[in-house]
Amino acid sequence: MTNHGTFTEAASVETVTARHAGCANPRLAEVMSALIRHLHDFAKEVNLTQAEWDLAIGFLTKTGQISSAERQEFILLSDVLGFSMLVDAINNRRPAGATENTVFGPFHVEDAPKREMGETICLDGKGETCLFEGRVLDLTGVPIEGATVDVWSDNADGFYDVQQPGIQPKGNNRGVFVTGRDGRYAFRGIKPVSYPIPDDGPVGQMLAHLGRHPYRPAHMHYLITAPGFQRLVTHTFVGGDEYLTSDAVFGVKASLIAPYERLRGQETLWRSPFDFVLAPT
Ligand code: BEZ
Ligand code: FE
Repeated sequence: MTNHGTFTEAASVETVTARHAGCANPRLAEVMSALIRHLHDFAKEVNLTQAEWDLAIGFLTKTGQISSAERQEFILLSDVLGFSMLVDAINNRRPAGATENTVFGPFHVEDAPKREMGETICLDGKGETCLFEGRVLDLTGVPIEGATVDVWSDNADGFYDVQQPGIQPKGNNRGVFVTGRDGRYAFRGIKPVSYPIPDDGPVGQMLAHLGRHPYRPAHMHYLITAPGFQRLVTHTFVGGDEYLTSDAVFGVKASLIAPYERLRGQETLWRSPFDFVLAPT
């Protein structure tokens, strides 16, 4: 039998994974063994040079050093690699007809202001006003009463309120609404604008080296919860946005592109109708 205790390039995977034999947690052993296999195969496939690996270690070090409670560069890295969207998709496979999930993003807050149905979320008076309305439904089309609809978007300058404390009013372009018996939600906000993800760190540098831009297409974020239903984390995207097919974090799903209708002769300039369908738990 081959002795996997000592190292050879050819048997590197087996040598390392054999050490997991004493792991008391079978899932941990499974995940780590697969990770080692793919990591070693990757290095062999590209004939990774020492200089390239040193560069990667430096990159990961900088990613850790810039990270804090407010700035999560590792999540950003996962986002731009399409990995956040992949893990989200694996964990939120839904029946046909249910609204699809997309990436959560770093700009949700737990204590967003509760607002009356129809109220505006825009507190800074900037941007093109838009009425967002629709229903929260179950898979059979029955309205869901008591669904919490938590929404947030950037302002007309492309920043969330939490990115500009002291410049934007707290709670600007965010709010929490609860549906009544008809399952309807309605609120006024602005037609969101496209914006760059934070690109002044190592992830931004990586995007630049790869010839990628840091922009996200304009979107409104939704977190919708209701007892007995799966939590829905999603956005609706502004149809026609120039970045719809090149979102820096791969968040766009075709089913989430919403209509924006131009309203004539009214104070509100736009209307974006969208129904959300929740899957049962
Ligand atoms: C966002 O949509 O808010 C977002 C998502 C991923 C990374 C950065 C921002
Ligand atoms: Fe966003």
